[in-house]
Amino acid sequence: MEKNFEKQIEDLLGQLTLDEKIGMVHGAGLFRTEGVERLGIPPLKSSDGPMGVRNEFDNAHWITVGTTDDYVSYLPSNSALAATWNKERAKEAGRVLGEETRGRGKDVILAPGINIKRDPLCGRNFEYMSEDPKLVEELAVPLIEGIQENDVAACVKHFAANSQETDRLWVDTVVDERTLREIYLPGFEAAVKKADTYSLMGAYNLLNGAHCCENKVLLDQILRKEWGYDGTVISDWGGVHKTKEAAECSLDVEMSITDNFDEYALADPLREAVKKGEVSESSIDEKVRNILRMMFRLKMIGEQTLERKAGAYNTPEHRQTILETARESVVLLKNKNGRLPIKKEGLKKIAVIGCNAEQIHSNGGGSAEIKALYEISPLMGMKMTLGGNTEVVFARGYYIPEREPEGEANWQEASLEDQKSEEYKAKIREKEEWEKQREAENALKRKELLEEAVKLAASCEEVIFVGGLDHEFDIEGRDRPDMKLPYGQEELIEALLNANPNTVLAFVAGSPIEMNRFRDKAKAIVWCYYAGMESGKALAEVLFGKINPSGKLPETFAMKYEDCVTAKNGEFGKEGRVEFKEGIYVGYRYFEKEKIEPAFCFGHGLSYTEFAYKDMEVSVQGKTAEVTVSVQNTGKLAGAETVQVYVADKEASVDRPIKELKGFSKVFLEPGESRKVTVSLAERDFAFYDTDQKEFVAEAGEFEILAGASAADIRLKQTIAIG
Ligand code: BGC
Repeated sequence: MEKNFEKQIEDLLGQLTLDEKIGMVHGAGLFRTEGVERLGIPPLKSSDGPMGVRNEFDNAHWITVGTTDDYVSYLPSNSALAATWNKERAKEAGRVLGEETRGRGKDVILAPGINIKRDPLCGRNFEYMSEDPKLVEELAVPLIEGIQENDVAACVKHFAANSQETDRLWVDTVVDERTLREIYLPGFEAAVKKADTYSLMGAYNLLNGAHCCENKVLLDQILRKEWGYDGTVISDWGGVHKTKEAAECSLDVEMSITDNFDEYALADPLREAVKKGEVSESSIDEKVRNILRMMFRLKMIGEQTLERKAGAYNTPEHRQTILETARESVVLLKNKNGRLPIKKEGLKKIAVIGCNAEQIHSNGGGSAEIKALYEISPLMGMKMTLGGNTEVVFARGYYIPEREPEGEANWQEASLEDQKSEEYKAKIREKEEWEKQREAENALKRKELLEEAVKLAASCEEVIFVGGLDHEFDIEGRDRPDMKLPYGQEELIEALLNANPNTVLAFVAGSPIEMNRFRDKAKAIVWCYYAGMESGKALAEVLFGKINPSGKLPETFAMKYEDCVTAKNGEFGKEGRVEFKEGIYVGYRYFEKEKIEPAFCFGHGLSYTEFAYKDMEVSVQGKTAEVTVSVQNTGKLAGAETVQVYVADKEASVDRPIKELKGFSKVFLEPGESRKVTVSLAERDFAFYDTDQKEFVAEAGEFEILAGASAADIRLKQTIAIG
């Protein structure tokens, strides 16, 4: 039972002056608020972000302090974590992140990001988990719990429907109620109701006409009233615009990116508004209560400060956990005739081609950037795995053009510039001009590198290509222009496969790419999301068979961008207003409805062994059910399988998807071993959101329960009736 701090909160509140309260509800530094020393209330210190604790910044400027004490463990991104489909891994990753956060002396970690991947081009998809709300919920809950075990707060972001970067501060996201409730809110709802998150971050965008940080429907009605949330709501940095609106809704702390802290909406302007009687002081009291409650929970105030956990960063245990998670996040997309794993015994020479074999990703992506203690690249991972008897010849293969030198401003400041201003547009034109001037030179370099790589591929028996994206594309503040592989990689891959049809393709990226030009021809394709400091080692271990892959895609990989619903309805990446016209038909829900075949479907991922499913049993009790399936490892290698349970409503009074993921379970099996897997389905798992009754309703009637290895690979099914 959690302690009740309400009396202590009221005592403190009674002693606070208006100025002191105002100090607590807005940033007094880029990542801290003001404390009240005389009452023992410390400042609230936060840090990004999802993949580890970000480097230390100057209090008022976007300048890194630049000391060497803020190198940290670099964790797998949320997309990599989601690819493990493993709740235990999520819990452990949370523990690592929480312990590092506390170890670095912070109170709040600005993570996890759990927005729905509505469109493959969203620049921040790599920070998010999935297109499916159930997968998000099942992994976010243990992740948050793991973080908060360490007396630090998770700050679940970005609440809500923040699924594009274009015009991110001003875009009005228009979402109908059912879609909001069924697709975009469940992750947050679970974070509040199941994981008891201590804090949430209000998103930049507007939702149905009002900025999320000033949105009464979202914050007052849904979050506080319906979900009973009593934690803290922190604004995204620069997400508050109007004093009265923010003061009078359930937002608690305004953070921003500029150093004029006294001019923040909830600083001097708020004091003025109270003095003029435009805003009542009681609305500030409510915010202070929520902040103090979180501080008590984190043992930041009172006698219990002595019991607060101290945390630790860069421990060997953290690195081990990160390695194990990275291993489970690697997805084997294709493996024709057992092309993989590559036998390393007796292997004399191998060619490794592609910039992503040696590129480091931890230091990019926006606020998710990390000063990693180290990051093992795929090339290093392969050399570590193979040892010195195999010659590893590396060629870049493709050319990444030099970037235009950044100006003085930190990207974070720049990313919030008014993108519609003439000044901004002139800057973009200048950049494009700079790039155009270099095009001829770049084409020449590309040609040289391609020729060198093709020659190498033709002369080696074993060739591994490592390409994909980088944080020039998977980045905060802008969306990708298309779903294509950049830097001329398609052309290179075709040439490599022609020169050596055995070439293995490995991709490191944060979001899907089109693979049409080589998907059929390639024998083996391996996919890695940005998976932390040990990612290169994990990939190498999979390629050479030390680890049997068990990752599954947490999102659909379309054949081509035009197949995506958002490409069809044109409601993505626009400025001003974006209407989620596809409704609940996001990701596989859309592909299945329209019978569009994806390149690789949701939940897909192969293993070096095989699994047989049998003996499905579904026991129904009222409006709940328990699904049991027996899984056997029928191959020769130990491995893990994720059994996915989908529910299809056979006689609904409203339009419903063909099927929806409602649970899953991952099992590790020795060769020949078989085990029973059980997935429990709650009433909500059969329900849709009824907009008349304003609640989730599970209608009585027939449902089909489907168990399978992916959305398209259903092995067993059974029809049941829910009473
Ligand atoms: C991002 C947040 C981040 C914050 C603080 C914002 O630009 O949207 O995700 O936590 O900056 O760096």
